[in-house]
Amino acid sequence: MIRKADLNDLDDIVEIENEWQDYPKWGKNGFLKEFEKDFSRTFVFVHDDVIYGFINFWEIDDILEINSIVVSHRRLRSSIGSMLIDFVVNCAPKSGCKRIILEVNEKNIPAISLYKKKGFRVYNTRKKYYDLKYDALLMELVIDE
Ligand SMILES: CC(C)(COP(=O)(O)OP(=O)(O)OC[C@H]1O[C@@H](n2cnc3c(N)ncnc32)[C@H](O)[C@@H]1OP(=O)(O)O)[C@@H](O)C(=O)NCCC(=O)NCCS
Repeated sequence: MIRKADLNDLDDIVEIENEWQDYPKWGKNGFLKEFEKDFSRTFVFVHDDVIYGFINFWEIDDILEINSIVVSHRRLRSSIGSMLIDFVVNCAPKSGCKRIILEVNEKNIPAISLYKKKGFRVYNTRKKYYDLKYDALLMELVIDE
């Protein structure tokens, strides 16, 4: 199931984040700050009381921006990422969001494949944005009325 994250989930969330060497990390303090922002939402995927993944996004006016989606190595390729994206796509129209945007490193093939599978398309790029080497792909999904 997917549920809203709370302060008790922080250690598990940070542990999953730390499983990924290359992934930019917020750490405990970063997530604490997110919990304080009224436009920031963090949800976790839980099975048998164990957290296996999370997603964070901002809802500002009619734009929903996905900042982070991470799945534990213990449960990769089990459709958790897919379910987290579906969850957010379903949330968007309920809060008046008309467009979902995100940014991804061009070398992150798993994430790009996931987003494309969910209907996202590249609308712009930031050249050499990561490590002055890899482009950032800006992707969007326009929500049907
Ligand atoms: C990207 C990520 C969230 C995918 O999570 P996941 O739960 O393993 O993905 P799913 O099982 O839901 O897979 C859904 C689709 O994503 C794509 N995908 C997932 N992992 C993939 C891989 N290793 N290689 C290629 N495509 C992949 C496929 O299209 C897949 O569909 P399929 O299973 O029908 O082929 C996960 O790899 C992750 O946490 N990565 C590290 C953090 C990160 O980079 N997040 C994105 C930041 S922008």
